[in-house]
Amino acid sequence: LPQAAEPKMARIEVNSPNVSYTSDFIQSKYVYQNTKVDRDVSGNITATPIDTVYLFRTQRRVPKLGVMLVGWGGNNGSTITATILANKHNIDWPTKDGLQKPNYFGSITQASTVLLGTGPEGEVYVPMKSLLPMVDPDDLVLDGWDISSKNLADSMERARVLDYNLQTQLKPYMENFKPRPSIYIPEFIAANQAERADNVLTGSKQEMMTKIREDIREFKKSSGVDKVIVLWTANTERFSEIIPGVNDTAENLISSIRNNETEVSPSTLFAVASILEGVSFINGSPQNTFVPGCLELAEKKCVFVGGDDFKSGQTKLKSVLVDFLVSAGIKPRSIVSYNHLGNNDGKNLSAPQTFRSKEISKSNVVDDMVNSNRVLYSQGETPDHCVVIKYVPHVGDSKRAMDEYTSEIMMGGTNTLVIHNTCEDSLLASPLIIDLIVLAELCERIQFKVGNETQFQKFNPVLSFLSYMCKAPLVPRGTPVVNSLFRQRCCIENILRACIGLSPINHMLLEYKMH
Ligand code: NAI
Repeated sequence: LPQAAEPKMARIEVNSPNVSYTSDFIQSKYVYQNTKVDRDVSGNITATPIDTVYLFRTQRRVPKLGVMLVGWGGNNGSTITATILANKHNIDWPTKDGLQKPNYFGSITQASTVLLGTGPEGEVYVPMKSLLPMVDPDDLVLDGWDISSKNLADSMERARVLDYNLQTQLKPYMENFKPRPSIYIPEFIAANQAERADNVLTGSKQEMMTKIREDIREFKKSSGVDKVIVLWTANTERFSEIIPGVNDTAENLISSIRNNETEVSPSTLFAVASILEGVSFINGSPQNTFVPGCLELAEKKCVFVGGDDFKSGQTKLKSVLVDFLVSAGIKPRSIVSYNHLGNNDGKNLSAPQTFRSKEISKSNVVDDMVNSNRVLYSQGETPDHCVVIKYVPHVGDSKRAMDEYTSEIMMGGTNTLVIHNTCEDSLLASPLIIDLIVLAELCERIQFKVGNETQFQKFNPVLSFLSYMCKAPLVPRGTPVVNSLFRQRCCIENILRACIGLSPINHMLLEYKMH
């Protein structure tokens, strides 16, 4: 049986001539092995193994990190704030089932383990966060914006997510947190949000964006953090139209903001403000915040952007289940997903335009798995895929998701799987916020050289490394989108291993297969 991870974090040091430790860096010489595939005119394939030498360098010093949440007073914003405070101050609370201790369940960095290797004791698992120096979520310094003026204690109460006793204990810590006024442009979210919009900036788009930039600088200075990351967990917006001359290039987007063009959304204004401040920006909602001009700006300024849309419940399961079916040689023919939820996210999604953003983001999550199997699917063939979301206020944050997967099995047979998934939405999304922040910050400290390059480089500004946490992963132009959860997790695990000079986990366990 695999061993449980040690409760206290053990220090890991790699014993290899390819790995060196200085006071500032962990450096690893790493051979990346992949396979180049060529197809000739008659369709025959040649596969050539390719070795590329990388030199990874990771800064060891973990900074004091500030996080600014857009939508701080929402269910996710208040829940993640409460969770961090409860963990930091070790606040436990009585429930009808006994005393509950705070934790970060659902976060891969904080609550999952990775197989480090094998030893005399068998397989050794360690917490993912112990592979490289990472920010401890307890140490995050939080701030943010919301169009609703409620302080964070009142926001937590409005969210109806956490137990009453815990709320009472957290109130003194949270009532002094007040969201900064935000950019509210009613036509981008549902009309039903107007009633909470009492904390809004005025002025032109340029003026409001300048204020956001000032807020970022002011927070950094007054809190004394070393760096800041901004994350959008505000309402889902409608998609922005991509209009040549308006938002198609970085230059056009900047001048559109100056000219107060209508088709620039609040989330894009936040992204542009962050990029101009050199601050990584992550989008947890489905809308196309990263219009082409915004992506170009991130590339030009070499600032990380990541997204889109937290992959928390139903979609996460879908990206496991369809992967399992297709890789088992079984052919999903129809996938039908019903959701109902009663929180403010559900209320906002009850408008057709914002629902459409969610529908698009939820619908594309099986594409890579379907496209990977030409034995089952012909070119262009896809399963029928239907997504329904309904707003049912009574169920609050406790989202219900019902899915039916109908697959074709051998000899024309049918296999139907029906899944009912219930839980507090924000308790699934909040740990993803931790992972997005912790891993994005880590990426800011990783550099590498490829082959004989003389200069270190950083990852591409479009941080596809964060795909595991995202329903519609943002990837650099022209590169593959991976939705399969297992592949996404392997990517994180193996890149962390590469940084400390360990080969990818291959699950071969050859050492146990000898005579
Ligand atoms: P929520 O509605 O409780 O919170 C959103 C907050 O954003 C509200 O407090 C609202 O006042 C504020 N807001 C709206 N527009 C704003 C603006 N322009 N600037 C600043 N604040 C603004 O929603 P919740 O449940 O916290 O979800 C947040 C986002 O995360 C939604 O877009 C949702 O679709 C997305 N998401 C949530 C998941 C989950 O499991 N909870 C999963 C995937 C995505």
